Amino acid sequence: MDHFWMPFTANRAFKAAPRIIERAEGMWLYSDDGRKILDATGGLWCVNAGHGRQKIADAIAQQAMKLDYSSPFNLGHDIGFEFAERLVKYTPENLNRVFFTNSGSEAVESALKIALAYQNARGKKGKYRFIGREKAYHGVNFGGISVGGLTYNRKGFGPLLPVDHLPHTLDLKRNAFSKGLPEQGIERADELENLLQFHDPDSIAAVIVEPVSGAGGVILPPIGYLKKLRELCTKHDVLLIFDEVITGWGRLGASFASNRFEVEPDMITSAKGITNGTVPLGAVFVRDEICDTVINAGAEGAIEFFHGYTYSAHPIACAAGLATMDIYDEEGLLERASGEIGDYWQSSLHSLNGEPGIVDVRNYGLIGAVQFAAPDGSLVGSKIMQRCYEKGMSVRAVGDIIAFSPPLTIEKAHIDQIVETLSSIAREMFAR
Ligand SMILES: Cc1ncc(COP(=O)(O)O)c(C=O)c1O
Repeated sequence: MDHFWMPFTANRAFKAAPRIIERAEGMWLYSDDGRKILDATGGLWCVNAGHGRQKIADAIAQQAMKLDYSSPFNLGHDIGFEFAERLVKYTPENLNRVFFTNSGSEAVESALKIALAYQNARGKKGKYRFIGREKAYHGVNFGGISVGGLTYNRKGFGPLLPVDHLPHTLDLKRNAFSKGLPEQGIERADELENLLQFHDPDSIAAVIVEPVSGAGGVILPPIGYLKKLRELCTKHDVLLIFDEVITGWGRLGASFASNRFEVEPDMITSAKGITNGTVPLGAVFVRDEICDTVINAGAEGAIEFFHGYTYSAHPIACAAGLATMDIYDEEGLLERASGEIGDYWQSSLHSLNGEPGIVDVRNYGLIGAVQFAAPDGSLVGSKIMQRCYEKGMSVRAVGDIIAFSPPLTIEKAHIDQIVETLSSIAREMFAR
């Protein structure tokens, strides 16, 4: 146990009482002590089509024997081009260029660097600053934690990039127990105008936000908020990046939140559900003109963008991704959350309103969060997460919030189990 330094884990506590998963199938994880556990978070918001998909496993195996690897620098392989062409069928109209990475964190770093490269290429070198948002999670690399807004992920790692932050949009006083998007709070987008004026728009390269923030506690955008950000970015000639690492691939009932909310950013970052979590792969979807500007600014025959990864467009990851897209299309999974099952999810989750200790329920598509009343430092989320596991359900805790992002293949009986488990724990822990 000592040798594996586990990520984002209380290592000592875990190793004292390990939770080991041996195999997974459909909606279920199976532990080494013979228990069957409902995967209410689709792994880490990534197993959108459910576990153990034969089609993806076959594609991975076949690709490993056909072409396991070749360099993506100055060499190409068909499957990389094929996958890029397939992916842009799901992206907003003007985002037709794909830069491949291996993770969401790398997609964020790449998007930030593309933003700077673009501003340089069009002669706007003074635009070097970014604007992120409080409570945002954009992965763990230095660019990502700079634009990110979670204190524990940032402190101790400075100095970071020149970034300022928008206020987050969580507002329990006005919006608790909203079904879908909250009605109050569009004015929080106006803070962007203030930040832009404070720093001077000519110094800002890009604004980056998650359309729905996930790891910060499932925080939804107030109605009209994202459109307002788009208007302000366009008005001040600033790029808008949507980090859709979680909100992509059907989570909100469409391929991307951008499509669901009808707001087109200049770039989208993606990962996770892009391969159903089977093989690491991330991507940045880039507006055509941004890519063309960077490429055309380079000298003929010279590398235009000094950036890329050994495993960009890894053939096995691309094969997994293509098979994943086939499953999404064949089973209508990208739209499923906006249909009947999404309605059932909403009404079931909100039936927890009134249970002891619960101060908010939030949902959209097949994402959800239940927030508990707890004094700071009480570790209530971790305790509930542990209790859920003991009762046969895997969830994510973010502070005092329990977050859900189940596979999009979820059925009503699974939703019932989620709600029953949580209400029994609420009564056990909070009833007087
Ligand atoms: C919005 C967002 N961006 C970036 C990341 C980082 O992705 P990864 O863990 O693949 O580096 C995550 C991970 O949860 C995320 O939720």
